[in-house]
Amino acid sequence: MQRFEPNLRIPGPTALPSAVREAGARQMINHRGPEFGALFGRIESRLKGYFGTQNDIILLTAAGTGALEAAIVNTLSPSDRVLAVTIGAFGDRFAKIATAYGAEVTKLAVDWGQAAEPALLREALGRDHGYQAILLTHNETSTGVTNPIPELAAVAHELAPDALLLVDGISGLGAVPFAQDAWDLDVVVSGSQKSWMAAPGMSFVSVSERAWTAAETARMPRFYFDLAQHRPGIAAGSTPWTPAVAVLFQLDAALELMEQEGAEAIFARHAACAAATRAGLTALGFELFADQRYASNTVTAVKVPEGLDWKGLNAELKKRRLVLAGGQGKLQGLIFRVGHLGSVTLDEILGAVGVIEEALVAVGRPVSPGVGVAAAQRAALDVLAAGSSGTGSSGEVARA
Ligand SMILES: Cc1ncc(COP(=O)(O)O)c(C=O)c1O
Repeated sequence: MQRFEPNLRIPGPTALPSAVREAGARQMINHRGPEFGALFGRIESRLKGYFGTQNDIILLTAAGTGALEAAIVNTLSPSDRVLAVTIGAFGDRFAKIATAYGAEVTKLAVDWGQAAEPALLREALGRDHGYQAILLTHNETSTGVTNPIPELAAVAHELAPDALLLVDGISGLGAVPFAQDAWDLDVVVSGSQKSWMAAPGMSFVSVSERAWTAAETARMPRFYFDLAQHRPGIAAGSTPWTPAVAVLFQLDAALELMEQEGAEAIFARHAACAAATRAGLTALGFELFADQRYASNTVTAVKVPEGLDWKGLNAELKKRRLVLAGGQGKLQGLIFRVGHLGSVTLDEILGAVGVIEEALVAVGRPVSPGVGVAAAQRAALDVLAAGSSGTGSSGEVARA
């Protein structure tokens, strides 16, 4: 029998739990009234835990790219020198934003599929440490790689202590442990459509005191994204411009579900689903794209093998209502990606691997049905038994 609901396994927007969808259908409220203030307060305080910060968190009505733009324009001036550490399409986008506003950007570009090794940053900052900011991607969605942020931050603090660290945390936060304050990061951003189980439309920006100080003299032009316009309203729970109230209703409901599950259980679920995806696809003969030491717990990138027509396979997947993502930019046609973030359960991943098996059989690949699912299930159970909660949190790396 056909599934009625698609199994949406792209790396955001993610499928929404029914309680979240229902919350989005509520009647509007006055966005300047006390009910909205309370909603804002609940969301902001719950987000802080996942960012690992005591900073106020700004709720921006914008896609994640808007939050990246806010990180740049609020902290920098035209012709400031910026080191953009990029490991994929989203790192490149962060660099482009800085360039668009007149920063003098040096790219430290790593081969796609690899992480930025701390030694590489050490070498780059050893040559030249006169940067006002360093741009980092936490989880590179285009390649399925999670960077070792605490280790990179430690190198930056040692060799370029005056540089602000601006971090794209869009597709990792909420799914893996993160510690902005312990790692001493200046601006961290994320977006509602990723691990937060809400519709697209809101993004979040956490700004350190050091970055607020930088904002006082930063001269890049800004109006809608001027974070200083947001700051005074945070305590009262108001935003300077009309917010996406329906998305905030959803986010409130999603964060309530996350509270009930607990952060550790959420991280363990992501680790198990990621392990299952990787093991299942490997058992089916696929090669994973990412350096597995840095494999993401929210998205897995998989090489399209020689001789397999991705479009044909994808058509079979779509018939069975499994929706995967293709490759971006230069990886188009070369990889496909499986999202396992936010509202994702092990049975959905096992179902997805099973559908991939069926589709492979349908396109004539020599696959033994059940092999992928068995490997996926074993890997997930191993991870759960070991109690691993995933990448990204060696914890206590503070500014030297
Ligand atoms: C790591 C990363 N950065 C930035 C973005 C851009 O976010 P948006 O599409 O919400 O602008 C995405 C979206 O997929 C992302 O995964």
